[in-house]
Amino acid sequence: TQEAYEAVFNAAVAADERIEPRDWMPDAYRATLIRQIAQHAHSEIIGMQPEANWITRAPSLRRKAILIAKVQDEAGHGLYLYSAAETLGASRDELLDKLHSGRQKYSSIFNYPTLTWADVGAIGWLVDGAAIMNQVPLCRCSYGPYARAMVRVCKEESFHQRQGYESLLHLSRGTAEQREMAQDAVNRWWWPSLMMFGPPDDQSAHSAQSMAWKIKRHSNDELRQRFVDACVPQAESLGLTLPDPDLRWNEERGHYDFGPIDWDEFHQVLKGNGPCNEQRITQRRRAHEEGAWVREAAAAYAAKHREATA
Ligand code: 3HC
Repeated sequence: TQEAYEAVFNAAVAADERIEPRDWMPDAYRATLIRQIAQHAHSEIIGMQPEANWITRAPSLRRKAILIAKVQDEAGHGLYLYSAAETLGASRDELLDKLHSGRQKYSSIFNYPTLTWADVGAIGWLVDGAAIMNQVPLCRCSYGPYARAMVRVCKEESFHQRQGYESLLHLSRGTAEQREMAQDAVNRWWWPSLMMFGPPDDQSAHSAQSMAWKIKRHSNDELRQRFVDACVPQAESLGLTLPDPDLRWNEERGHYDFGPIDWDEFHQVLKGNGPCNEQRITQRRRAHEEGAWVREAAAAYAAKHREATA
């Protein structure tokens, strides 16, 4: 009966066991995982655009090789996550359709422009740093395929974060102009990176249920605070400042206090009114159309191969 299945599911989640694709699960659990995993995958795919903008203009062959590897990794993360969503019965075509028609989201952070080379370093240090903060707990998510995908993704994100930090360090120790460029990039990417963790806990529609199902292991505000606490000392060793005059250590809390986040900006970006929303989706749709021949060729080859081996 439904109750018996529900009891088995709840006991498994309570015991920190993994729910696997063939296990019974509540429809709402399946739906929220498809929503989150699909939007995570969309974020990885759209996230290739801001960085790819600098591949042809990287200052050295070494930086170009690192950036190409990183952008390829993001594509791989996206495909990995679409596969995880497919284990829940979602169809990749349908998910891409929802992205292209604005019925599913991707991370707000990728709607900001990459104006200088230093942005590539700031994205690696801050955006991939925030992604790691959010993705390490997802390695303990109750849904098996998602948790396992995160283990591989987190290893690659660590390289992304490290290369960004190292690139910023190089700039901040360079000429005054390079330092200025690094500081300007950090000033532009700091607040949007804090928004990546989602709305404040008391305005988060999904957190309570998502935490009850052990999909979300820490709240949005908790991970955001962890990220701020990690970044402040790193900014000091980079010799760069963070654009928040209210940032200060609070001995009592054992954390850094920080200034108010502009949630109007966040909601504007989510509504599609960020600096680059239109450009990102237009480029994505065009890439999808231009890639149709590859999908058709692969499908034709697979069909021929099936016939041959039938
Ligand atoms: N950008 C866009 N939408 C966001 C958002 C953001 N930064 N933060 C929250 N939202 C959306 C949620 O998706 C939800 O909308 P929906 O119902 O249409 O899906 C709404 O705002 C309410 O937010 P909640 O906190 O209630 O939603 P969640 O419980 O889903 O929490 C989340 C949001 C923390 C982003 C969670 O979905 C999550 O952990 N997702 C997996 C991680 C992820 O997607 N990361 C993307 C970062 S980019 C990346 O990883 C690429 C790397 O290579 C840099």
